[in-house]
This record gives sequence, structure tokens and C-alpha cells, in this order.
Amino acid sequence: MKRIALILGLAILAGCGKAPAPAVIPTPMQERYGCGTLSGNPEPSIEIDGKYLSKYGPEGYNLEVDRRGVRIKAAGKAGAFYALQTLCQISDSTGIRYAKITDKPRFPYRGIHLDVSRHFFPKEEVMKILDEMARYKFNYFHFHFADNGGWRIKLDSCPELTRYGAFRKIEDWDTFWLHSPMEFCEEGTPEAYGGYYTKDEVRQIIEYAAERHIEVIPEVEFPAHSNAVFAAYPDLTCGPEGYRGGEFCVANEGTFEFAEKVLLEIMDLFPSKIVHIGGDEARMEGWENCPKCQKLMKEKGFTNTGDLQTYLISRIQKIILDNGHRMAGWDQLLENEDLDSSSIVYAYRSDSLAYKAAGRGVNAVITPGDVLYLDWFQAHPHYERKAQYGYSPLHKIFRYEPQARPNILGVQGCMWTEYVPTEGHLEYMLFPRMLAVSEKGWSEPGTTTWEQFKNKVATHIPELKARGLNIYDQHDMPEIETDGKRVIMDHENPYSEIRYTLDGSEPDAGSRLYTEPFPLSSDTLNIKAAAFSGKNKTFTRNITLVRGKKYTESYPEIDLHVSWMGL
Ligand code: ACM
Ligand code: ZN
Repeated sequence: MKRIALILGLAILAGCGKAPAPAVIPTPMQERYGCGTLSGNPEPSIEIDGKYLSKYGPEGYNLEVDRRGVRIKAAGKAGAFYALQTLCQISDSTGIRYAKITDKPRFPYRGIHLDVSRHFFPKEEVMKILDEMARYKFNYFHFHFADNGGWRIKLDSCPELTRYGAFRKIEDWDTFWLHSPMEFCEEGTPEAYGGYYTKDEVRQIIEYAAERHIEVIPEVEFPAHSNAVFAAYPDLTCGPEGYRGGEFCVANEGTFEFAEKVLLEIMDLFPSKIVHIGGDEARMEGWENCPKCQKLMKEKGFTNTGDLQTYLISRIQKIILDNGHRMAGWDQLLENEDLDSSSIVYAYRSDSLAYKAAGRGVNAVITPGDVLYLDWFQAHPHYERKAQYGYSPLHKIFRYEPQARPNILGVQGCMWTEYVPTEGHLEYMLFPRMLAVSEKGWSEPGTTTWEQFKNKVATHIPELKARGLNIYDQHDMPEIETDGKRVIMDHENPYSEIRYTLDGSEPDAGSRLYTEPFPLSSDTLNIKAAAFSGKNKTFTRNITLVRGKKYTESYPEIDLHVSWMGL
């Protein structure tokens, strides 16, 4: 029943009595569909001409399908490529849907970040993700290959990094990070966990990405998140033993010699003109207790250890600028007043930091952890394996509104992997949420409602599965909220229905069907709700709402026992 309603809903949208409109994600700027389909694998006519730049921009396109064939117009190859991605989404086994589509992205930067340090993923898996990024019109891959979990590219200038810093004795993150001496081990140690990419493999990844109009941005972390470096070069951290914060010693000239050597090789390996240098979460206790760092502070007249951070970033910035590159980093970069205007700030602690950077004339990428960190829970922890800290389901990402302002480059979903140990789980955390990130990066706000979007996602899920991705199925679990006046329920899966009780009894298939928000009719209201699909029933949510008080679910009732931001 629900399925028929869904199909009818989409058909009305299409203005066509027979077939539903194709569910294109990200939603194109303008799309109109005719009732026919073009069959027989027609060769598209593709016209690439700079004269279309003012109309469609460098990545936009015009796509027309009718009985005469498929015609694509774009100012450049990227636009034509994205037209072909859309073409795939409006095709099925019966043919290509008649269509007139004019499309261009809202933001020039649409990124996915992948941490291959906490857990290592082979190049084939990276390429599988790149395939999907291309399908959903992402154009930047932020390659987080160095962090406390391991160093993952074998460099000619410092082969010790992978020899001593790419393998560890313990695979499980919490056991390694919180409950053991955090030992790395030499390559070749029996049963060691880890891995790295050779430079050839990295070149293959870069080339594979470039063929899909995706630029790969490398990240080398300074001054923190560098325990894997110190496994190879223990002298580069403060003190004889190093310490858990993982920062470089700022007073050691060897730190800057290392930075220069590694960054030069990385800038040579990656064609991108952007190098991300981390910059986040330096825990400065090591600097406070290091005689060399303290001496440097006195000599330079620094009043606090934060000055050591800005001093280090300035020197690293010089290495990057002297080599004709742009420095990117997490939002702590804003502490540097000497930030070059070519820099890119990745705002993760709050989107307000992106707008602050933009206001200072510096470019920024919006990636707030509480929405766009894809290692957060996407469903109730009751159902899920351990994830990071908070709750970021599909609808939260979809409802998030990044602002297009001068100097705001775009948005990025970040996939941190402390609790993502396998390829299957990586895909499970990425999909389908990556589709919502794609919508945020490409589509103008208001082009799709949440109801339409979740229905669209439902049609993509079988295709994602058919491509061999272990995705998370849209969940059935009812979400219950109030704005203080009304009770609002929702669930992601359009094929099931929510039934509820208000008298404390267990909901069953005969209980009231939720169809729309209803008044919060008493001072407190106990709601028990479950979703039903055929004979299946989800577990029951049991929530008490109070009139006049807003309630948004964040799962405070669960003690998640998780660490925050990898510390
Ligand atoms: C970060 O989450 N530390 C960038
Ligand atoms: Zn020091």
C-alpha cells in the first residue's frame, strides 16, 4: 500500500500518468520528465564548448533525452561527465527516460574524507568509494593517510615511517589506544595488523580519481596525531619516551627538517595544489614539560604554548607556499593571524568557524562534526555496533543547511575509522548518508523535501546493494520529537508504518497509525511507538513528552562509552 502511494507521489511530481519520475540524487537544479523512454543504447551527442560557461558553470550541463536521442551540452569535461552520471540515474532496463535537465552544483567543493590510519583499507576499497563519489558528483577526496593509528604511504625520503609506523600489535582501536601501551611493530612482524600504499598504488588511486573528476588532497598531520611518526622517529617528540598526545617537539629543528622532507615528497606525488597539514587538537602538556620547548618560548617571548602551535604552523605554511601550494588545515588554523589568503580552513568544531574564516577572507570547507562526521551513529545504538559519540542520521544531514557565502568552498563528509574496522562496516557507515552529503553539496536548498528525499534514497538502495556495497538499510525505528505543542514522528523507511499508543500499552498492528503531527494534548504524554512492516515490528520507543518543552532526540539514555574526536 505504502509502496503504491510512494510511486503515485513520484508520478504526480513528474506530471506523467504512467511512470514515476526518476529519483536523481543529488537533485538537479531543473528537471522535467516526459512520459516516454528511449531504448536501444543510443550514443549521446556531447557538445563541450566554453560558450556554455556562463550558463552552466565549469561543472554544470544541459541534458535532453527525447525520441531523437540524447544531447548533452557543457562548458567542460566535468560537466559532460556529470551529465552522464545523471543519464545513468534516469535509465533502467526499459530505456532512458525522456528528460530536460539543466543542472549545476551549488558549491565548487564537494568532498569525502577517509581516515585510513586508524584502520587500513586497501586501494581497491578506496577505488570502490571513488566510484560512488563520482556517481553522486563529489569532486574532492581528502586522503587522511597519517594519524595515531598508522602511517600509510611508503616514502623514499623516510622509509622508516612505514617500516616502523604502519603496523601495530592490536587491531581493535580502544584496546590499542586506551588499554595498552600503544605499541607499533616493525613490518614483517608475524600477525601484526596494518598496511600501507606504495607510491605506485597512490598514483593509481590519484589517476582513478582524476578519471572521475575527483581531486585527491593529501593530509599530513602537524603538530599532533603523530604517534605513528614517533614509532619511527622517537626523537621528534618532546621527552625521551614521547607521550600520548602525539605532538612534535616544536623546539627540535629536526621537526622542521622532517616536515620539509615529507611535504616535498608528498607535494611531488600528489598533483593537487592543496596540502592539508592537520593542525587540530594539539594537547600541549608535552610542550609545557619540555625544557627545549620552554626555552624556545622564552627566546621568542611567547606567553603560552598556543604560541608554539602558531609558530609551527607559520613555518610549515612557508614550506608549502615556497613550493607553490595552498595550505589547508582543520579550523585551529584560524589561531594563526598570518594565515595566507590562499589557505583553506576545514571547519569541524562548528560551521560558524567556516563563516568566520570566510569573513577573514580565507576559503573554508564546512564539515561540522555533529552533522557531517559519518562515524557517528546513524540509528539507535540499541541496534548498532559501537560508533563515535553522537547521532547523525540521514534526516539530520538532509535537514542541515550550509550557507553559500563568499569564500565558502563547500561541504565535506568525514569518515573517521576508529570504530570502522572492516570494508563492510566502512560501506555501512558511508551509505546511504553519503547521498545526503551529496545533496547538500550540489543541490539548491528547497529543491527536495525530506519526504521526497527519503523516497528517492529508497530507490537507490537496491542499486547500491547490486553494486556490491554493504549498505545500511534505512531504518524503521520511529523517531519521536515535540516542538512543545505537537508530537512529530518520523522514520526513514518509506515502506513501513508507525503505530502508537498513548495509554501505556504495547503498540500492535491494530494500534493508531501515525500519519501527521498531532497536538500534545496533556501536560505530559507517554508515547509508545513501533514501526510495522508486514509481520515485522521494530522495538518499541517509549518516550514521555512535556507540553511547552521542546524535545529532540539525541539518545542521552545510552551510555555510549566512547571517546570523542580520537583523543
Ligand atoms: C578532527 O576531528 N580532529 C579534525
Ligand atoms: Zn619539546
